[in-house]
Amino acid sequence: MQAGHRRLDRGSTIGDVYAHPLGRDATDKILLALGRSRRWVNNPLIRRLRLSVVERLGGRFVGDGFMDTLLQLLNDVPDSPTHTTGPVTPHWWKEAVFYQVYPRSFADSDGDGIGDLRGIINHLDHIEELGVDCLWLSPIFASPNEDNGYDISDYREVMSEMGTLDDIDELISACHERGMRIILDLVVNHTSDQHAWFRAAREDPEGPYGDYYYLRRGTPDTLPNNWASYFSGPAWSWLDDAKRWALHLFAVSQPDLNWDNPAVRREVADVVHWWLDRGIDGFRLDVINFISKREGLPDGNEFVASLMEFSGVEQYFHGPHLHEYLAELRRDGFTRRGAVEEGPGCDPVAVMIGETPGIGVETGRLLTGEDRNELDLVFGFDHLDNPGKTRWDDYRYDLNHLKRYMVDRQARLGSGDWVSLFWENHDNPRMISKVDPDPRHRTALGKALAAIQLLGRGTPFIYQGQEIAAVNQDFSDVSEFRDIESINRLSPSGGGAESVNTVLAGSRDHARTPMRWDTSPCHGFTMGEPWIGFHEDSTGYTVAEQREDPESVLNFYRSLIELRRNHAALRLGDIRFVAVHRRDYFGWFRELDGEAFLVEVNLSSESILPPHHHESLETLVSTGGDNSPLTPYEVRVHRVTS
Ligand code: GLC
Ligand code: MG
Repeated sequence: MQAGHRRLDRGSTIGDVYAHPLGRDATDKILLALGRSRRWVNNPLIRRLRLSVVERLGGRFVGDGFMDTLLQLLNDVPDSPTHTTGPVTPHWWKEAVFYQVYPRSFADSDGDGIGDLRGIINHLDHIEELGVDCLWLSPIFASPNEDNGYDISDYREVMSEMGTLDDIDELISACHERGMRIILDLVVNHTSDQHAWFRAAREDPEGPYGDYYYLRRGTPDTLPNNWASYFSGPAWSWLDDAKRWALHLFAVSQPDLNWDNPAVRREVADVVHWWLDRGIDGFRLDVINFISKREGLPDGNEFVASLMEFSGVEQYFHGPHLHEYLAELRRDGFTRRGAVEEGPGCDPVAVMIGETPGIGVETGRLLTGEDRNELDLVFGFDHLDNPGKTRWDDYRYDLNHLKRYMVDRQARLGSGDWVSLFWENHDNPRMISKVDPDPRHRTALGKALAAIQLLGRGTPFIYQGQEIAAVNQDFSDVSEFRDIESINRLSPSGGGAESVNTVLAGSRDHARTPMRWDTSPCHGFTMGEPWIGFHEDSTGYTVAEQREDPESVLNFYRSLIELRRNHAALRLGDIRFVAVHRRDYFGWFRELDGEAFLVEVNLSSESILPPHHHESLETLVSTGGDNSPLTPYEVRVHRVTS
């Protein structure tokens, strides 16, 4: 069942690298970062170049050690799953619509300005009426909240602001009673520095907990390596009490766990079991591809660092034991003891969804392929920015990139592969604002994005607010930001930038402002003072208003989810893209067991003529005017009748 790839060395060619799953992903990633087209690697002359020649010619750019690192990375990779054809193995999570709640910003029930579990319980009707099958909550565990819960101090306790264990039990039952599942966020690449394990490690680095983390001896003036933190500065901080360096890929207060220690892996599996016993249906696993670091923690290559913005990435984004640790966690943590029947609260294997920054299509297949028994789904991020751009750049996102990404990815999947579909989450600005901030297009564009997501092939993850066409905020003062990532980038130690504009395009706070439930002063989010301020208050974009408006984005989400629910072809059916080379037009057929649909989306703010189709079509949905040209961002869904 496995497609073998051979060991690579300096005698191998660029073509060999591109035929290798990680080689292909890494090359694509580099081209994407540079904003270059793939035509480059498709050139036969370039494909035939040997790596030794590349090293000689490019040595000056890529620096010492680049080729060794590359070969080591590639030769660690297991064989890819084959491209099987035939029917898709059904699983509830392939047919489900997921909805991500960022609890802090969803609904506050007690007036402290911070969203809480009771707030979610009070708004379950909204989620159920949308047609959601599974809820995902961003972290609700005990936490000092340096990174809003992504810094956990106790995996078996609820954050005091959010409520109690009784509240989460009630929320789990309430979801299950409605036929919905619920998953939590497992943040186990790191803990909070307030976690009992880290306190113990710090107190006695030579004791049993010392090896739970990456603590390194040394002197305060010499960093153990050149790795960078994602939240500015180096990935190491000196613990003066312990006389050790501690590794933290994220904030100083988020020390990385040492997964090479079997005791750590056992602890994590136990935490998972503990929550499965409480009825949880699975987890989204935070930055889970970072858990296996290359032995000896070698320096990152400067060339890679210049491309990826952070140094050290290649030493841990697809580490030597990643696949082994994930398979072990699936077996020892996610497999329910004694479970036989699938259903909310009792699936034999709870769903395992990995957040995997830097992972491309081929490595994604390696992590999720049916016969690999690792993750079920991954979140990669290559579609969230246009080639040559990063989240921090202020530019208009071209939806043709999303189309190309989806078309290309699909062509590389077999029937044993399944993918996630998402454009937003708590770490990214709102998609509507990235594509086209013109308020006249807000509703049409919101619907276009919904159609691409809900009628595409894969599992959609809706982020709270997407269903009411939420947009970015006009933050105008540095003091308005709450997120540690933005704040560190603004502070002198994090790069010296002064102005709001440095972080405005990319700040994660855009997606973290309160959910807009109604038109009251705090939008029905809180009776108190919200923990984060907001600017956006345009008429028509709250849940209450949209519920009453048949043409609203909210009602469009509902109707598409219902359409999906009623037609297996729109969930599990094959997908065939049409007119793939036409700019601004995105069209595809979905088909299963003799039933077929055609979806058409105008990706631009101009009217365009759709191509002619030979099939006879009955139009079920149209968000524009009459039938001929597609109006800006118009969506049409047709049933094929012959
Ligand atoms: C993930 C989370 C993000 C968090 C980071 C560190 O990327 O989605 O919110 O800050 O990991 O846990
Ligand atoms: Mg509250």
